Amino acid sequence: MARLYVNPKCPKGHINPEVQGHFSEHLGRCIYEGIYVGENSEIPNTNGMRNDVVEALKESRVPVLRWPGGCFADEYHWMDGIGPRENRKKMINTHWGGVVEDNSFGTHEFMELCRQLGCKTYVNGNVGSGTVREMSEWVEYMTFDGVSPMADLRARNGHPESWKVDYFGVGNENWGCGGNMTPEYYGNLYRRYQTYVRNYKQGQEIFKICCGPNVDDYHWTEGVLKTTHDHAEQFHGFMNGLSLHYYTHPEGWEIKGSALDFDEEVWYKTLNKTLFMEELIRRHGAIMDQYDPEKKIGMIVDEWGTWYTCEPGTNPGFLYQQNTMRDALVAGINLNIFNKHCDRVKMANLAQIVNVLQAVILTDGERMIKTPTYHVFDLYKEHQDAELLDSSIETEEIGTDAWKVPNLQESVSLGRDGRIHVTLNNLSVEKDYEIEAVFAGTEIRAAEGRILTNEMHAHNTFEKPDLVHPESFDRVKVNGDKIVFTIPACSVLHLALDI
Ligand code: AHR
Repeated sequence: MARLYVNPKCPKGHINPEVQGHFSEHLGRCIYEGIYVGENSEIPNTNGMRNDVVEALKESRVPVLRWPGGCFADEYHWMDGIGPRENRKKMINTHWGGVVEDNSFGTHEFMELCRQLGCKTYVNGNVGSGTVREMSEWVEYMTFDGVSPMADLRARNGHPESWKVDYFGVGNENWGCGGNMTPEYYGNLYRRYQTYVRNYKQGQEIFKICCGPNVDDYHWTEGVLKTTHDHAEQFHGFMNGLSLHYYTHPEGWEIKGSALDFDEEVWYKTLNKTLFMEELIRRHGAIMDQYDPEKKIGMIVDEWGTWYTCEPGTNPGFLYQQNTMRDALVAGINLNIFNKHCDRVKMANLAQIVNVLQAVILTDGERMIKTPTYHVFDLYKEHQDAELLDSSIETEEIGTDAWKVPNLQESVSLGRDGRIHVTLNNLSVEKDYEIEAVFAGTEIRAAEGRILTNEMHAHNTFEKPDLVHPESFDRVKVNGDKIVFTIPACSVLHLALDI
């Protein structure tokens, strides 16, 4: 029997709801078709946004949405996407699939989408090919209420009231698609560009995000912080977050690997590579600690998830892939890691929300399915805004000769509802484990749960949309400060405990 130890009297920090955030780029069928179909579409919509997708996303409590990229952000000129739609520029999305971008989804539409979702807004600015003026005017257009050229323009375009920009990214992947810069060069540009990301409203300060590293590029983190930290200390609001991008490529960046066709070896390889997120947060966090020991600057993991070879027969530039129980485990593992590092990780954004990479929703014309990853977010939602509790679990090493992982992985929080929430992953393909969880000095009065479990390749299709879905889990014995239960192989479990 494995033991899970929880110390309910020892809160470890606040879990920002935004660690369960999402990302939507002008890429493939994410925005167009996946979310936005236009007011004249036969697909039921509200102001152009598909009702089915918005409903499903609301249910899983999307806390924040990042837009418009990704690599697209550093090629995006926001003025192309405002004003009467028929006048908006048409162009080729050269980065993603060479299709026509008609700019019918722009700033107003993004703000409308976030309004419908009831989520926070994360807008990513253009440093790579945009000017300081362009960035400054975009912020003015979105957030300034008084008399100004941009506020007037917004009003003429039908929206007299300003919007709230919660998060603003000063560039994306500026070490790569965002301009191929060196950390020092970008660091200096960050100092300059962010100056003009003005805070126009007291109490609605914009959380400014500096472009951080790719995977284990510690040199980037060091270089950017060294170039900027004297200012970071002097000026409050100079830098609120530093991003980190890490994707799980089971077979490496070149080959990537199939979403559906994999064996046990690749299962464990994928999960092992996912667990690398922990080391990345620790090591980049250690560099951040040198410049920011009080942890005022949040780590923002604004791109994560699996990245496979795209589905056969689809446009390779669209990054469309299926989603199995393996993705469910990848999501569960990452979300537990973010919880455990809530002192530093303040936001994370799965790439991407619909039809791209590890999507929570897939669409096909008017049809829509929820992926196993969707259900994991749904199982984890009670951690949003909760207090992380001190916990640890006894594990054993499992896997193949080449790829080892711990059999179990957990995180525990005290929710806003006053209950203890345990999320637990069983990484084994074949073995169930009996677990005794001990809650030091705290009597457990009742337990209920939901579980997502199936064989490793299981996934939902448009023909069988509900093959993988959560089921209620009531096989929990409660005894004073202990509970005992068995977690089946290949599963993600959420337990809610009354205390
Ligand atoms: O999410 C797909 C792409 O991955 C993003 O555009 C880019 O930022 C990253 O390389």
